[in-house]
Amino acid sequence: MQETTKEKPIDESKQGEQLVLEQKQGNTRKLYIESYGCAMNFSDSEIVASILLNQGYNTTPHLEDADLVLVNTCSIRDKAEQTVRKRLEKYNAVKRINPKMKVGVLGCMAERLKTKFLEEEKIVDLVVGPDAYKDLPNLLAEVDEGRDAINVILSKEETYGDISPVRLNSNGVTAYVSITRGCDNMCTFCVVPFTRGRERSRNPQSIIEEVNDLWDKGYKEITLLGQNVDSYLWYGGGLKKDFVKASDLQQATAVNFAALLELCAKAQPHMRIRFSTSNPQDMTLDVIETMAKFDNICKHIHLPVQSGSDRILKAMNRLHTREQYFELIDNIKRILPECSVSQDLISGFPTETEADHQDTLSLMDYVKYNFGYMFTYSERPGTTAERKFKDDVPEETKKRRLAEIVQRQREHSEIRTKEYLNSIVEVLIEKESKKSDAQWSGRTSQNIVAVFPKEHYKVGDLVKVKVMDCTSATLIGEIAS
Ligand code: SAH
Ligand code: F3S
Repeated sequence: MQETTKEKPIDESKQGEQLVLEQKQGNTRKLYIESYGCAMNFSDSEIVASILLNQGYNTTPHLEDADLVLVNTCSIRDKAEQTVRKRLEKYNAVKRINPKMKVGVLGCMAERLKTKFLEEEKIVDLVVGPDAYKDLPNLLAEVDEGRDAINVILSKEETYGDISPVRLNSNGVTAYVSITRGCDNMCTFCVVPFTRGRERSRNPQSIIEEVNDLWDKGYKEITLLGQNVDSYLWYGGGLKKDFVKASDLQQATAVNFAALLELCAKAQPHMRIRFSTSNPQDMTLDVIETMAKFDNICKHIHLPVQSGSDRILKAMNRLHTREQYFELIDNIKRILPECSVSQDLISGFPTETEADHQDTLSLMDYVKYNFGYMFTYSERPGTTAERKFKDDVPEETKKRRLAEIVQRQREHSEIRTKEYLNSIVEVLIEKESKKSDAQWSGRTSQNIVAVFPKEHYKVGDLVKVKVMDCTSATLIGEIAS
């Protein structure tokens, strides 16, 4: 599951999962909500469900029963969009049985296609971009009156910091906490800056309140979420890019990502804290040092690199070189020898040569990532790469290079999991193992999956496990007595 070419970088197993929450008495309408794409979309769906719970909607796991169907969409690659188009066909078929059913499109595709959606897909009644969810009650009132409704305005302030997300389909143990929205990085291949807008950070106080609340409800692990978490910066509100214009006092009292991590780690010293995603150009030593200072900050860094070739990195507008990336890796390994590192990689970016591809493989050899998410390049309309370059690497070449990258990663994952053989690791139990109902499945601090016999333990327990065996992605062990 960790080496994949599918559409979801963070948790592949959840794609298309509809979210179900406890029912609120008196609510008469039924909402069916389905999410695709990154963890941020899943987190946003929890905000949407929370808003609609107060508008008379309870969720249903059955599409056929729904009064309102919402699909939270992803635009990151063409394939992600095609998946959603197929789902719309399915909804269309259901609408023939249940003509009163309304269909809304949320998220990045809504933002990218705007009114085009209403023109192209007759089935769609409602189009809502990622910053407009608070407008849902008004938009739904329009839809109730038989009109199509749309809001795709991007915001400079919206962080939904004041909305308490309803945790949906949750294991009750791990939860996402969103800390930034949008992205200012403008990697040339990426549609996110266009679909999710400018980067803004959420008030740290509301983050800590959410973390405390999760602990009180029995959660044991949180993942701080953002497109580029290391870029987090709170100085009283406002865009990251306007920080230079902030007052002296605001600048002096600003909270950066390292400080936020420390606040979270101290607020709940027994809560496991993860974060995703780190951008190599924005990750600073103080973040790594803060990770070292607190046992409850998990020792895993997701550090997408995209390519191992300096020329391609430059064309991608990744603002670091191969050498600088190595330096960062060396610092991570020096300060946090036990830390795992994972990657995102793209094969077949425009103009990529065989030599560039070899650079990617040799970069992988240097780092030996624990795991990664690997993709073929997909040209996205409106991006700089689309305007500047021809998508000139043939599809078969992209796929062959991807297969080589995936194979190399498999070898490295195997080397990495073997390092844990015969050692004792700490595992937070999350769920039953897919392969056996006699086994628990959880993750180590390094974000490596471990399975072991249940004994008398339960979901949410933190247990010591002796690693007896492994596959390239999973540690197989026993409770260490
Ligand atoms: N910073 C983000 C990255 C979002 S996109 C985060 O939080 O994860 C996730 C990954 O998708 C990227 O790291 C990149 O490897 C891949 N990706 C983005 N745009 C792509 C494109 N046009 N074609 C192929 N892969 C792409
Ligand atoms: Fe996309 Fe680069 Fe931001 S990959 S989300 S523009 S860091």
